[in-house]
Formats: sequence, C-alpha cells, structure tokens
Amino acid sequence: MPMITEIEDLRRIYKRRVPKMFFDYTESGSWTEQTFRENSSDFDKIYLRQRVAIDMEGRKTASKMIGQDVAMPVALAPVGLTGMQHFDGEIKAAKAAEKFGVPYSLSTMSICSIEDVAENTSKPFWMQVYTLKDDDFMQRLFDRAKAAKCSAAIITVDLQLLGQRHKDVKNGLSAPPKLTPASVANMMTKVQWGLGMLQTKRRFFGNIVGHAKGVKDPSSLTSWTAQAFDQSLNWDRIREFSKMWDGPLIIKGIMDPRDALEALNVGADAIVVSNHGGRQLDGALSSIRALEPILDAVGDKIEVHLDSGIRSGQDVLKALAMGAKGTYIGRAYVYGLGAKGQQGVTDALNVIHKELEMSMGLCGRTDVKTLDRDILMVPKGFSGDWDA
Ligand code: GLV
Repeated sequence: MPMITEIEDLRRIYKRRVPKMFFDYTESGSWTEQTFRENSSDFDKIYLRQRVAIDMEGRKTASKMIGQDVAMPVALAPVGLTGMQHFDGEIKAAKAAEKFGVPYSLSTMSICSIEDVAENTSKPFWMQVYTLKDDDFMQRLFDRAKAAKCSAAIITVDLQLLGQRHKDVKNGLSAPPKLTPASVANMMTKVQWGLGMLQTKRRFFGNIVGHAKGVKDPSSLTSWTAQAFDQSLNWDRIREFSKMWDGPLIIKGIMDPRDALEALNVGADAIVVSNHGGRQLDGALSSIRALEPILDAVGDKIEVHLDSGIRSGQDVLKALAMGAKGTYIGRAYVYGLGAKGQQGVTDALNVIHKELEMSMGLCGRTDVKTLDRDILMVPKGFSGDWDA
C-alpha cells in the first residue's frame, strides 16, 4: 500500500478500487462543474501570512462546534450513498470520526440506516435531514434520530430538486447498482470492493426503503428525489420541521445573507455556508467567497460553519481564519473510505489535522480558537463587489 501523505494519495487509490459509477458520483459537480471547481480553486487565491521566530510549541486544534467538544473543528459532512463506496461505509466512517474525536453526520440518503450506525458506534452522531413532502416520514425521521441519541440535526435546505450531474444520468446511478453490461464489466475489475459488498446486506437506501410511502423506485436517487422532495419548501415549513426536533439544529446550504437571517429566525444553532459541494446550483459562488458577507449579516448571533471545496488542512485554516467556527469535509474522507475503508477515513483526518496544525504554527499561531483574518492575505474584492 503506498504511503499516504496527502488527500490526493487517497483519491488515486480510491479511483482504482471503486466502481466508476460511485467514483463519478463523488467526483462530480452539477452541469459545467464551475462551482465544483471554484470551491477548491478559490481557496488557492487566499494567501497565508508567514511569521517567524514566534513560539509555536504546544499547538492546539481542539475546539467546539455547537457547544460540543471536537478534536479539531472539522466534521465529516453528510454524504449520500457512502455505503456504496465501501461496504458498511457509514458505520466505518462514523467509527473513524468517533475515534478521532470529530462529529460524523449521517445523510438521509445513506445506505446504512440511523439504527445501524447507532448500534455500531458509541458516541452520538449528527443526523442530516432532507425536506420531504411526507410529514409522517419527516416526523419519524426526527424520532428515529432522537431514539438513536443523535446530538444534532442538520436540515439541508438547498436540495428541493436534485442538480443534474451528467455522469450520474449517463451511468444510471442507483443503489444497489443496476446490472448492465457496462456496470458489470466495470465492477468485475473492482474485486476487493465486490468481495466487501458480498459480505453485507446493506446495499439499499437504509433510511428510506420500508419507511417512505409512495416512492416507486427507491433505488434511484433521481427518481425518488423527484417524487418525494418538497419543491414548495418555504421558511414556515422549515420552522415546522425544526419543531419536530428538540435538540441542537444546524441549517445547511446557505449562500446568501438574507437566507442566513431567515435561518437565524428559525432559531437554528448554526448554519453551514455551503453550495452542496458544487452539486446543486452551478454558477453559484464558491462557499469560501460567500462566507464573509454572511458573517457580516449574522455577527455572533449564530455559529457559522463552512463546507464545499476543502481538501487540505490549509483550506481548513483559511476558512477558520476567515471566521467560520467549524468546517466539514465530504469528498476528502470519501476518497479515504473508498481507498482503504475505516483506516482510509482515519488517514484523511490525520492528513488534514497535521496540515492544519503545522501550517497554523508557520503562521505564528498556536490555537485554532484564536485564529483571525490577520494570518490571511485576501485579494481585494474576493468576497464580492458586485453590481447588484
Ligand atoms: C446528495 O446529497 C447529493 O449531492 O448527491
């Protein structure tokens, strides 16, 4: 097994090991993928200010997200179909997160169910919830999350309809994968992946199958989102959902200060500045560029987190220094999971942690809790100087 020194090492192994359909699902943005690309490339436009001869001993990355202790402010983002990247993938990722001391968020669109993950872990995880039309389903989802002792709910508000990712349409993405000559030929080259999948019964959308009514083809992400998701969603409805849950609440998918203020009114504990990893509105700003105006609008009234585009500890450092209190990685840990299972997720967390704490030291800082804009050089107009 090659030595892992950066996230890209994991991505390379992942690409070899996992069927094309699921690699493509991870490695896609919607339409032209402009936003998907810029989420990462915009981090490169921000520079870190090198300082020297400042005591950098005893560097600390521990902090809090929504009042909960974290070994570093980097949670695992909710990612659909994680259990198709590696057998029992959600359980493995949750275990790696638990050992490392960072939050794991379970997607509504997971393969392992809420109950599966709760039974196989010992620390609470966060439950991500999509906004579906069916109120009974929604209430039950929150109740199941409560019964599983989830310590936060994340309501994702940017997916009333699913952005088109061309490769998923062409590959006929589904869970379990539909057996076509092309998909079978490709899967036959992924021996370890296949042997793993044969060991588990968890190959369907575990939170949906047997729980959602009126969904005709629950194996197809496209068809069930089109049938079940609430396109008429509004903030009153989000408020209703928030009442179905009495624990800490995070609202994910905010890109505009006006929406951030709405989330504040709903009474959320945190918002996630996110464009869904560039998978929804193509042509939207990168989330790192959207962050500052949102921080200006909400001040200290709500905790602001950020995801989309983070592939390194330096990216985390930049987001925190810009003012985010927490960050999430999605693809960066999925690469690890597909490459090496639970160990690969641990590797991804170790890589990011090391990059974060060393780069912080080289900026002359020793505690993530005290990071600020002073360590950054941000180009003028980076956060927008728009005509309207
Ligand atoms: C689901 O959340 C997706 O982005 O595919």
